[in-house]
Amino acid sequence: MSIEVIKSVRTMQHRSSVLRQAGNSIALVPTMGFLHEGHLSLVDIAREKADIVVMSIFVNPTQFGEGEDFEDYPRDFERDLSLARERGVDAIFWPDADEMYPENYSTYVEVEELDKHLCGASRPTHFRGVTTIVSKLFNITRPDIAVFGQKDAQQGFIIKRMVRDLNLPVEIILGPIVREDDGLALSSRNTYLSDSEREQALALYRGLQAAKKMVESEEVDSNIIIEKIRSFFEAEPDVQKDYIEVVDLERLAPIERIDQPALIAVAAYVGTTRLIDNIIPKLSDCCG
Ligand code: PAF
Repeated sequence: MSIEVIKSVRTMQHRSSVLRQAGNSIALVPTMGFLHEGHLSLVDIAREKADIVVMSIFVNPTQFGEGEDFEDYPRDFERDLSLARERGVDAIFWPDADEMYPENYSTYVEVEELDKHLCGASRPTHFRGVTTIVSKLFNITRPDIAVFGQKDAQQGFIIKRMVRDLNLPVEIILGPIVREDDGLALSSRNTYLSDSEREQALALYRGLQAAKKMVESEEVDSNIIIEKIRSFFEAEPDVQKDYIEVVDLERLAPIERIDQPALIAVAAYVGTTRLIDNIIPKLSDCCG
């Protein structure tokens, strides 16, 4: 099956216009590459929803803070290309950094408030970089639909808010988290983990599973749930909490009681690798 690799903004914009004029709908799957089944499951969703699937692969420098892993972020374009081709992606937009951020680049998109907690608290410039690049990708690929993973839940909610606030003509879909058999959420960063860290990283999943059971048994006190998750982290010598939070889905701000739809999200360093995971527990009848 043929797959087109497009490096230039103008060519991508032109190709999308031609496809749209011919009556095709376009779904975009934005990625930073080093694809795994989590990304590919988003391609499956995109395929079901649109005629043409465009994947972008771009390790976006503006969403990495100082001292973060921009340089080390895993990259393997040939492998990505073959996985994307096998999964039925029609075109890959794979620009260079100076194509996306030419000299004197000076425009940024920022969604206020929703980036104050969770990952935004420890990565203060991260979401500004994400919303900027995602806006640019929307303008370049002109999708009807864009599919993101729920693993980056805060990112997904922020992008939804940006789309609503700026009236962007694109529907945002969040695909479910894909996990290894033992529960570890798939992430390109899992490749940094040693064998022992890989084992200890399960503390994130196990903590969240325990939290889910508690909510299902009608525990509504966020602090009790947070303490439970913390106990899983503290049992592992190389797991260092970044945050454990229970937030509402509107403001992404901490809530004391789970009496409304909520996100339970965690981030932890396992060795030097920062991992995130989350659940949106189903509320029992008492709290819905
Ligand atoms: O989720 C990611 O991989 C990135 O944040 C995204 C959405 C591709 C923007 O660079």
